[in-house]
Order: sequence, then C-alpha cells, then structure tokens
Amino acid sequence: PLPKPFGVPLPVPPVARPVRSERGADVYEVEQREGRVEILPGRKTTVWGYDGIFPGPTFAARSGRRTVLQVRNSLTVPTVTHLHGGVTPPESDGYPTDLLLPARCSPGRAREAHSGMASAHEGRVAVGYRDYEYPLPQRAATLWYHDHRMDHSAPQVWRGLAGFFLIGDQEEDRLPLPGGKRDIPLMLCDRSFEEDGSFRYPAHGHGHDAFPDGVLGDVQLVNGAPWPVLEVSATRYRFRLLNASNARRYRLRLGAEGGRGGRFVQIGSDGGLLDAPRPLDTVDMAPGERCDVVLDFAGFPTGSRITLRNTVAEGSMRDVMRFHVVRKARDDSRIPARLTASFDKLTPSKGMPVRAFDFRRTDTGEDRQMWTVNGRPFSTDTVLASPRLGSVERWRFSSDFHHPVHVHLAQFQVVARGGRPPAPADAGWKDTVDVRPYEVVEVLVRFTGYKGRYMLHCHNLEHEDMAMMGNFQVV
Ligand code: C2O
Ligand code: CU
Repeated sequence: PLPKPFGVPLPVPPVARPVRSERGADVYEVEQREGRVEILPGRKTTVWGYDGIFPGPTFAARSGRRTVLQVRNSLTVPTVTHLHGGVTPPESDGYPTDLLLPARCSPGRAREAHSGMASAHEGRVAVGYRDYEYPLPQRAATLWYHDHRMDHSAPQVWRGLAGFFLIGDQEEDRLPLPGGKRDIPLMLCDRSFEEDGSFRYPAHGHGHDAFPDGVLGDVQLVNGAPWPVLEVSATRYRFRLLNASNARRYRLRLGAEGGRGGRFVQIGSDGGLLDAPRPLDTVDMAPGERCDVVLDFAGFPTGSRITLRNTVAEGSMRDVMRFHVVRKARDDSRIPARLTASFDKLTPSKGMPVRAFDFRRTDTGEDRQMWTVNGRPFSTDTVLASPRLGSVERWRFSSDFHHPVHVHLAQFQVVARGGRPPAPADAGWKDTVDVRPYEVVEVLVRFTGYKGRYMLHCHNLEHEDMAMMGNFQVV
C-alpha cells in the first residue's frame, strides 16, 4: 500500500562538514555506500547513497574557493561523480568512462572490469578513491551532484546517488532574501517500490528500449520522503527546486483548500540569480533543471494548507508536497527589485559560430532503435564541436521527442524556442533546457573555465544510458 499523502515531515539533507581546510581549499570525505533508510513508513529501503543517505549530504561551497571531494567507493559497482552545473576541469568532471571502481576490487579485477567495458578504452580508471577537485570559478548557484557511470546512470541515480551542491557568494549574501532555516533545497523525484520496501527499477541490463519515455515511478518524493509536509510560518521562504527525476517532468502549481493558491516568485535558475524577480503561476521543470523561488505565506491564515501540485502528472502523482502554515512570525526578508548587477546578458552577433545538435531516435532495423545526437550514438572518440575557450557560440538543439538537453562546463542563455521568444522556464543562465518534440531551441553558450573534452547529452537518464550523448572539445 502506498503511504498516505502529507503524512511525513519534509526532511532536509544534512550539510557536510569539511574534514580539513588547507591551502585555500575545503576538503570533504564522502563514502558511497549502502544505507538502510525508512522511505515508506514501516519499511526499510536499501539505498546507494553518498554517505549512505538519499539525498546525499548538501555541500555548501563558496564561489572561487576550491572544494575537494575525496570519494571512496564502498559499493559493489563502479561509479562516476559529476557536479552538474560546475565549471570543472575535465579530469574532475565525471566523464562517464572515468570509473571509480569499488574499494574492494583487486587490481586484476579492476583491469578486467575496465577492458570488459566496450566503450571504456580511454577512461581514467581509479580504484577505491578519487579526488574530485572543484575550483568553482562561477557565481552563486544551486548545483547538484549525481552518478554518471557509462550506461548505468539511470539505475544508479534511482538507487540514491544524488545530492545538492550549493555555491554562495558575497553578492548574494548581501541580498535580503529569506535565509537560514527559510532557505530550503527541495529535490523532486519519483520512485517505485517493491512490497518489501526495496526500490523497483523496471529496466534491467544494457539499454532501456522498453522504456522510450524513460522510467517513471508511482511515488513522489521530495528530499527522499513520500508526499511530505512542511510546517511553515506565515513568512517568505526560499525554495531551491531541483528536478532530479530520471524522466519525469513537472508543471508545478500551488493550490490552497478553498482558495487561491499563491504564486511563485522566481529569483534564480540553473546558473544562479536572475537579474530581476519574476512572478509565476506555474513552474515547468524537466529533469536536471533547477528553479529558485520565493513563496510568501504571509497572506494565509494560520492553519492554511497549501499543496504543491504537478499538473502534468496523473492520479496520486499530481500531488507533490504540502505546506502547512502553523504560526505567525516576524519577517525581515524582502525580494529586491534587482537581484544582481553581474548578470551579463548575451546578445547574438553576426560572426558567432553556429552549430546544430539534433537529438533523435534512429532506426537501425532489427527492431532496434538508437538514441543519437547528430545521427550517432555516443562514442568516446567522436568530437561533435570544438569551441574556443572564451568564446560565445550559437547552438541549435532540435529533437523528435522530449529531450532535456544538458551541456557540461558551459552555461547558456536561451534566445529562441520554436522561432518565438523563450518560455518562462528558459530564463537566466541555464545548463539544461527542455527541447520539446519537433522544436528548435536556440541558445548562446559561453565557454569559460577550461580547455578539454566535455559532453552534452539528454538528461532523461534512460536516454543518456542509451548513448544519447556527444563530446565537445574546448580548444
Ligand atoms: Cu546532470 Cu551530464 O549530467
Ligand atoms: Cu532524451
């Protein structure tokens, strides 16, 4: 039986503490291991978690301050950790074949596992430990980290390998936005469960051809809890929304019992603060996207219940979580009319290199379909584009299907969607954009940070595992 909605309190993942700070860097130790947690009331679920929890611990980092994650793999499978939205040197970016093999894996077994992987021939393989170095030359933003293992991201994220990584900076510190206990990250994702409480992941083995839409669950989780409730005071709150689902889309709306549900005020997107706040009645989120919003509960009488709903879902999945206004309280927060002075608006120009990336299912006959970018499935040695470090390019994403397109390293601004102005969900600096069936989304991408090989891919994790990825090389 599924849990009754709004019966469990919203958990907030713990903030990780560095084990030491040295030479201008904060060093964290993280262990990927199994954990037994209670997700469904009265049942135990085995998760594969960073530190054995799901979501993993939240890393609270600072812009420009080097953060090192020393990851130990105590699971029984290889892993890869990617900081989604990070401006990260290529060797720490979590390339899908840069495997971290389990600590208990002997060197012989490691070699075997390595050569057994058809496409892993040039991966940087480590055994037991790996240091991921994040210099973070970027603005304050809500990032997240998750597994990115070649062909296995979808099942490994499903089992729990994901968490928040928040970057703060001085400019954001000076804003009077809600902070402290009123600044809460919300990881939205869906899962399914077996009778005994274990996760049910329906697609096994290589490829997920039976799930062309990706895998959807029938239990809505927020921060790992099913349909939770959060008690709030009648004040403003900042919620950092993340769609960490493998494949589910959200159109979020607020509904109150017998009344108006209130509005979102969007203040940030994937790449940090917008230049100015934007009121929204609905928030659209595809897998991988973040949306930073402020909700003001001041207009609601004590006792009000406001439900966050997903209007593009069916049945019980239309409910996401609930806010319960339990007290009046003082509120010194405000949403300033200008959020940042450092927002560089990109504008198209004539000489800009233009490149096209087409995301499509391609028939190979024999009842098989390949998931391709520009007609090819992923291969480690095919480079689709070689942008120059420091340049801005115009990229066109097209598709025959719903594909949330994610670019590593570089952030972009959407300039057109289907020949029209961008949609509300396209605002600000983005690293993931939803490309809808038969639509062309045009973005201006700025390449900063590092040279090297990076990737772009579909963030529907089942599509990603079916090789809907491509490389670009920053030169
Ligand atoms: Cu969120 Cu390449 O991944
Ligand atoms: Cu896709």
